[in-house]
Amino acid sequence: MVKICCIGAGYVGGPTMAVIALKCPSVQVAVVDIAQKRIEAWNSDKLPIYEPGLDDVVKQCRGKNLFFSTEVEKHVAEADIVFVSVNTPTKTTGLGAGKAADLTYWESAARMIADVSKSSKIVVEKSTVPVKTAEAIEKILTHNSKGIKFQILSNPEFLAEGTAIQDLFNPDRVLIGGRETPEGQNAIKALKDVYAHWVPEDRILTTNLWSAELSKLAANAFLAQRISSVNAMSALCEATGANVIEVSYAVGKDTRIGPKFLNASVGFGGSCFQKDILNLVYICECNGLPEVAEYWKQVIKINDYQKNRFVNRVVASMFNTVAKKKIAILGFAFKKDTGDTRETPAIDVCKGLLGDKAELSIYDPQVTEDQIHKDLALSKFDWDHPLHLQPMSASSSTEKQVTVVGDAYEAAKGAHGLCIMTEWDEFKTLDYKKIFDNMQKPAFVFDGRNVVNADQLREIGFIVFSIGKPLDAWLKDMPAVA
Ligand SMILES: NC(=O)c1ccc[n+]([C@@H]2O[C@H](COP(=O)([O-])OP(=O)(O)OC[C@H]3O[C@@H](n4cnc5c(N)ncnc54)[C@H](O)[C@@H]3O)[C@@H](O)[C@H]2O)c1
Repeated sequence: MVKICCIGAGYVGGPTMAVIALKCPSVQVAVVDIAQKRIEAWNSDKLPIYEPGLDDVVKQCRGKNLFFSTEVEKHVAEADIVFVSVNTPTKTTGLGAGKAADLTYWESAARMIADVSKSSKIVVEKSTVPVKTAEAIEKILTHNSKGIKFQILSNPEFLAEGTAIQDLFNPDRVLIGGRETPEGQNAIKALKDVYAHWVPEDRILTTNLWSAELSKLAANAFLAQRISSVNAMSALCEATGANVIEVSYAVGKDTRIGPKFLNASVGFGGSCFQKDILNLVYICECNGLPEVAEYWKQVIKINDYQKNRFVNRVVASMFNTVAKKKIAILGFAFKKDTGDTRETPAIDVCKGLLGDKAELSIYDPQVTEDQIHKDLALSKFDWDHPLHLQPMSASSSTEKQVTVVGDAYEAAKGAHGLCIMTEWDEFKTLDYKKIFDNMQKPAFVFDGRNVVNADQLREIGFIVFSIGKPLDAWLKDMPAVA
């Protein structure tokens, strides 16, 4: 029986391994982590992450051929294939601070693999890593290996949170990069055989190591670039009276462009886009390509601009101050159908409003009160560490300005304005008349995801701002100048 061990039981390690276990009953899968609470949650009825369909997959395999454990060394020692899916944060200090990937967790995992292994293994990079990481990992493994043979593969994960299970069941492609030696090719084949249990062969792409590593960074950069492109257009639409929905529909109808990832919004979030682009920028700079680095940097700059623009619009519309005004925040996750808040635009928008002394009442169907307070207290980039190693810098002054409530009506009660930060379906069908009746007047809705029917809301009496759509007369009279 092939034994797989995955180091890192996070958003990637948990779902990918659960699906491998489901699709390959003949393979034994152990998912290990140093975060005890996370492992306890994986072994309980309340999994540590919310992902549609995940509970079902885990229930079918857990205890049969899928195990979650903190016995990291034991399971690594027993495995034939070791996936590494640990955090790869952006460095906050030292060389490359603010851009380069911090490979501390990766390196410690590699050293541990070398220390505990008694048999040859295939080590698979599942984490997103800078190009040429495999070479560094290979050096660590072979220097400490006591004659044991390691083959390193790059198998970046392309799942999207919110649709992870669907994406894993039916991936557009699985990418496996390896050495071009006979041993490297054998390792590629062994991993390919695992995926071939359910993925059609023509969707399993094999490349050299560096192409696989770079393809992951490139794919995320291209996706984020589409969002920043349409968001840049949304600012121009507001200025000219064009409607970004109509513009992006017309643009996306071109089969060379296509309709996906062309929704204007308050900005992209999630653990990967910003981090991976910064990483790409750093690699370009290190390779003497400042023009290329500058090009990709713009994708992040536009994303930051979009979030700032949103905050400025809120504050400017309310007579240039939100001090002591209650503002309802609907949605905190970085997108619908996930409880993940990493780099969610809601954090920057909330911090911007708090900076102007607003009082926030926040509701999200999947994000806990603790998580929201923690996110608002953490500094930039500090979230990307194992739970028990996250630096805590909770600011009590902010906590007093923030309440987290159990539904949208409660959040909006007595509020001056309502900001929609996540496109949860339930926000489309709220009783906005009831919400309006319980708000201060004039009552504002700032729709950061274009989910509400703005005309209906205007009929109720709201002043409505929708990203990239023609502005209400009120908003034109109150320009948002930074
Ligand atoms: N989240 C996504 O959608 C996504 C998609 C593709 C790739 N990635 C990449 O995959 C990697 C993991 O992402 P994630 O979202 O699963 O992160 P995560 O923070 O949810 O999970 C990482 C886990 O690794 C554990 N860990 C860290 N060091 C360890 C060690 N030495 N031994 C054992 N466990 C250790 C942590 O405790 C944590 O639970 C990152 O490189 C990320 O960039 C993420």
